[in-house]
Amino acid sequence: MRIDIITVLPELLKSPFEASIMKRAIEKSLVSVHFHNLRDYTDLSYNQIDDYQYGGGAGMVMMIEPIDKCITKLKSERAYDHVIYLTPDGETLNQKLANSLSLSGHIILLCGHYKGVDQRVRDLFITKEISIGDYVLSGGELAAAVLSDTIIRLIPGVLNNETSALTDSFQDNLLSPPVFTRPSNYKGHKVPDILLSGDSGKIEEWRENEAQLRTQRLRPDILE
Ligand code: 6GU
Repeated sequence: MRIDIITVLPELLKSPFEASIMKRAIEKSLVSVHFHNLRDYTDLSYNQIDDYQYGGGAGMVMMIEPIDKCITKLKSERAYDHVIYLTPDGETLNQKLANSLSLSGHIILLCGHYKGVDQRVRDLFITKEISIGDYVLSGGELAAAVLSDTIIRLIPGVLNNETSALTDSFQDNLLSPPVFTRPSNYKGHKVPDILLSGDSGKIEEWRENEAQLRTQRLRPDILE
């Protein structure tokens, strides 16, 4: 998979890709991530990429031309499965959407800023609009990093047995059960006996039950 991220703030985006699982995925060549500074695609002075909105009103709007130039150049080099615009009014990201996007070949992520992009960008170039939740970020960059992380960890070969995505919360519409590690007794607070029993059947049953209880208690909305 190849992810191309179009942004006015590449420096805000880079570090999440330089650590942990995303870094490993890139090192293993399971994904490549490329940053494109939108200001490199404008011919205007001061590298201008936004302007006042027609009809008046507060807030700047990202202009179509630099975005067109950048997306058109990328599309001339390879085929993309999705051109995704990160925007608070997009479809809300969840595990199902991440699973489906992880099957993509190449994707473009466009990070919105200010009042957003000229509507014609959305009409002409964007195939999917995604939000990461009902709150406002200053720009799409952090959302693009979140979206990339959820997708990249699902690419086959990225996670090993220790970090398997199959037992993650949400993967089967359940939260994960409680987990414990050494010591088995910390200042009188004990690990449940069943986990020390060595009975893998009983342990699996306990975990499924705990996951159900936890989900009912904390997130009844995700139970089918
Ligand atoms: Cl994708 N962008 C912005 N600016 N704010 C958001 C968001 C995206 N998702 C949630 N809030």
